Amino acid sequence: MANYDVLWTRTSGIQTVAAASLENYGTRLEWRGPSGEIMHDACVDGTLTKKILLPYVNQHVSKIVATDRFADTITLAQQINSDEKIEYKVFDVLKDDITEMEGRFGHIFSICVAQWLVPNSLLLEKYRKMLKPKGQLFIVVLADTPVQQSFHFLAQGARWKDILANQNVFENFSSNPVQDFQTLLANAGFEVDLTAQVTSTIPMENFPDMIDLLWNMYYKYWSDIPPGQQKQFIEDNLTKIGTCTTSIGATYLPDSKSSSSRIT
Ligand SMILES: C[S@@+](CC[C@H](N)C(=O)[O-])C[C@H]1O[C@@H](n2cnc3c(N)ncnc32)[C@H](O)[C@@H]1O
Repeated sequence: MANYDVLWTRTSGIQTVAAASLENYGTRLEWRGPSGEIMHDACVDGTLTKKILLPYVNQHVSKIVATDRFADTITLAQQINSDEKIEYKVFDVLKDDITEMEGRFGHIFSICVAQWLVPNSLLLEKYRKMLKPKGQLFIVVLADTPVQQSFHFLAQGARWKDILANQNVFENFSSNPVQDFQTLLANAGFEVDLTAQVTSTIPMENFPDMIDLLWNMYYKYWSDIPPGQQKQFIEDNLTKIGTCTTSIGATYLPDSKSSSSRIT
């Protein structure tokens, strides 16, 4: 599975979103006292950790504990993005015991992953417990991407609702993500300093490949779709996602030939 995550982190523009988020909002981070440890959750192959996060926080921290749930991803990170200040560690933030991490970090960075870590209420509770008192969470969520919109749209329609309605794939931030997310944070015990909504364009150079990648990464329900209906399912998603991306100004238009050729 991990190679899909690596492909995603290298092609989706997440690095650009992360760098812009730090540049625009990182000034709100407070660095108190002697340098301590921070956490970077869902670090994939460590590229973001080493190339973007480390230079930004280097003078303030003694160590970045960079975690991901897949062992092969972490092994790759150790091979290609090692640094004396980074400790890569296999850790499933939703499932693993956090005793060793409790109250440990001055800051936790969670970049473009929480939309997939459901339920967010559990995720945020874990983040809060792993922070030191007065610690800070810097979290970037993809709140309203065309892929998420398509999932929620198809989950309500007659054709796919029996399969999709019970799948916990994306946190649903509704049509008011800022308010929703503030509520989620407050309910998890955070004092919210700032929430902001930014519109970004995430480039998708090879759209059918991106869809294929997303299915393999996160669409746990794929095996629940009868093989005879899978082609229809892809068509419906590409049509919906194509509509969304067109409406937000991307240049992609759905091409049913290329989409169906991927599964025949
Ligand atoms: C799309 S990437 C997130 C973007 C990422 N922050 C980056 O550096 O590009 C998704 C990553 O989240 C990881 N992940 C998904 N669920 C997780 C969990 N429950 N605990 C820890 N990592 C998780 C995956 O293994 C994958 O590497």
